Amino acid sequence: MPARCMTEMADTCSVTDFFDEEQLARLHGPTETGSALPNAAYTSEAFHRLEQDTVFRKSWVFAAFHHQLKNPGDRYPVDIAGRPVVVVCGEDGKIRAFHNVCRHRGAKLVNEPQSSCKPLVCPNHSWSYSLEGKLLARPHFYGGGKHDHNRETCHRADLREIRCDTWHDWIFVNLDGSAPELNQYLKPVTDRLSGYDFTALQIGSTLEFDIKANWKLAIENFIEPYHVFSCHPWLHSFVSMEERTAPEFQDHVLLCGYEFRKTDPARGEGLPYFPDLPEEKGHRGDWFVLFPNFALEVFPDQVDVFIATPTGIDQCRETIALYFIGDGAHADRYSEGRNAVIQNWLDLNREDIGIIERMQAGRSSEGFDGGVLSPYWDPVLQHFARLVYRGMSEEA
Ligand code: FES
Ligand SMILES: [Fe+2]
Repeated sequence: MPARCMTEMADTCSVTDFFDEEQLARLHGPTETGSALPNAAYTSEAFHRLEQDTVFRKSWVFAAFHHQLKNPGDRYPVDIAGRPVVVVCGEDGKIRAFHNVCRHRGAKLVNEPQSSCKPLVCPNHSWSYSLEGKLLARPHFYGGGKHDHNRETCHRADLREIRCDTWHDWIFVNLDGSAPELNQYLKPVTDRLSGYDFTALQIGSTLEFDIKANWKLAIENFIEPYHVFSCHPWLHSFVSMEERTAPEFQDHVLLCGYEFRKTDPARGEGLPYFPDLPEEKGHRGDWFVLFPNFALEVFPDQVDVFIATPTGIDQCRETIALYFIGDGAHADRYSEGRNAVIQNWLDLNREDIGIIERMQAGRSSEGFDGGVLSPYWDPVLQHFARLVYRGMSEEA
């Protein structure tokens, strides 16, 4: 890596600075002789910064759950691409996102989730903003006792709105406003979800894990099933390697799936299925990654959402939200099934997190340089690496 990209001059870097010619050739070459991303993608602060400024600004990125913003006035602060963002439910019930920063002197406006119909008030000089982001008033603006409530003058300091759209319980934002419409972004997934009535989904539980590894390792591990026989004894007994097929990809979507021949208590036996689910979907599991970091698993009786949020170059937070069908999410008679699903996620994640953190540790080694890949299982990892590269390239 050129010295100028090592530290403080990160802003002047381009993605090519992190690859030498051979690494680039292996990234774009055939999987048999190719590689995925070099170590810098997991260890370099400059790479992380550039990735945030490009991939996470240009893409639709998950911001919050709709169930966290049910009522007018609910507001939820979140960091996207290293920038403070606040998602707000307006008086009209519409979800909007704003840069979470006061237009006066830049204080962060909302520090923690709140439910209140009152305006958003900056703690610094009490400028207040409506739930729709309009500047309402600035006290003492023209001197003691001389306040400004005039829309003619206030409108210049309205909050900066961020493009925001919602798919079921999942609120996405696109910081730079350049991504295609959300339904276009979702289409490769939604095209494959016919027969599943997502309006029947209800949130059951949410799990969170802090992981000492780059977010990409969590996503890569999520999509590739090659490690199942080695790391997940129960999962392998549920569906063996012989019954599994390699993940595929279409543009910015990675996908994998299987058919299971038997049910299993660990998968939440006895939970209600999607209404009117076509017979052939009654024994399928499918999982998807929407680049960069939003993933979901779809089963006849549940949908599990998985998000790996970068919190640093070598750390991320995994959020897993478990949805069940109708009263499968709440009724006492299904509590055993739900608890089994939760326990199963805890067990699987414990098995995964150790491995993910070991892969992060390995990225500090000169003995690794993008990897030697399985031509059968790993094309998806190379594709993911190319998506990162493309997303960080100026022309993308
Ligand atoms: S910084 Fe927000 S009111 Fe002054
Ligand atoms: Fe796993």
